[in-house]
Amino acid sequence: MQICRSIDSLRDQLADWRQASKTLAFVPTMGNLHAGHLKLIEEAQKTADKVIVSIFVNPTQFGPTEDFSRYPRTEADDIAALKAQNTDLLFLPSTDEIYPAGEQTRITVDRLSALHCGAFRPGHFSGVATIVCKLFNLVQPDLAVFGLKDYQQLVVIRTLVRDLNLAVTLVGVDTVRETSGLAMSSRNRYLTPEEHQIAPKLYDVLCQTRCAIDAGEKNFRSLETQALLKLRSLGFIPDYFNICRSNDLELADFSDKNLVILTAAKLGNTRLIDNIYFASSW
Ligand code: PAJ
Repeated sequence: MQICRSIDSLRDQLADWRQASKTLAFVPTMGNLHAGHLKLIEEAQKTADKVIVSIFVNPTQFGPTEDFSRYPRTEADDIAALKAQNTDLLFLPSTDEIYPAGEQTRITVDRLSALHCGAFRPGHFSGVATIVCKLFNLVQPDLAVFGLKDYQQLVVIRTLVRDLNLAVTLVGVDTVRETSGLAMSSRNRYLTPEEHQIAPKLYDVLCQTRCAIDAGEKNFRSLETQALLKLRSLGFIPDYFNICRSNDLELADFSDKNLVILTAAKLGNTRLIDNIYFASSW
């Protein structure tokens, strides 16, 4: 596996592969790799000749009181996992390499960035859109793979790709879960053992709400209120629990077919997000 820490060395290697007519798939990450990240790499390997992974803990997507400084950085373990997975290239830039002094450009996907997580994390999706756009410009992949675990993030990136006419095909991969149902996340390591027991209940409440919709419950706003109460009674401090249209993430009503339920909730000091997407069965 090649490891490129500079933009110049990345561009040199990619130019060679393009010259040889290799197709390129790209998997951007912030490291602390787990089975969810590795699934994205597997999917990428199915469809492209060369797979490029980036690890960059992107400062512009963290708010001033968020966990940027304590975000888990596990470079040696990550490199070993990527080698074991037969990754072709790891891009591992420093912050200065990506954000030169004086940089001042941000990309904002307007409406979407204000909804759901965006309402609780001002500037977050602008930081995500900016880094993803920069990485796409650097790598210029044929396809890029993202997890549906971060559903809103993927919709933001889809919109960015459409609106800026970027020539990349996006692939979404289902959420990888622990056997308990808890969605794998680098932030799960912040959970205490007691919190780790409670955390899977976030997915349980999503599944229960989906069942209620399948059973014919048409009052979505009432389902959201019940779910918030349930989460509070279980020990979560929910930010939101919203039943949305899966294409534009606006709040859905019973006439909408393709749905995603998005939720974020704190458990102690850890903020968890999860979702479930489905076509309503009536
Ligand atoms: P990170 O949280 O490291 O996630 C990298 C990719 O892995 C994202 O596409 C995310 O959706 C996916 N992923 C995380 N957990 C997953 C799981 N349990 N199952 C399937 N996929 C999962 O998301 C980011 O980094 C950043 O915002 C980034 C896009 C790299 C921009 O900085």
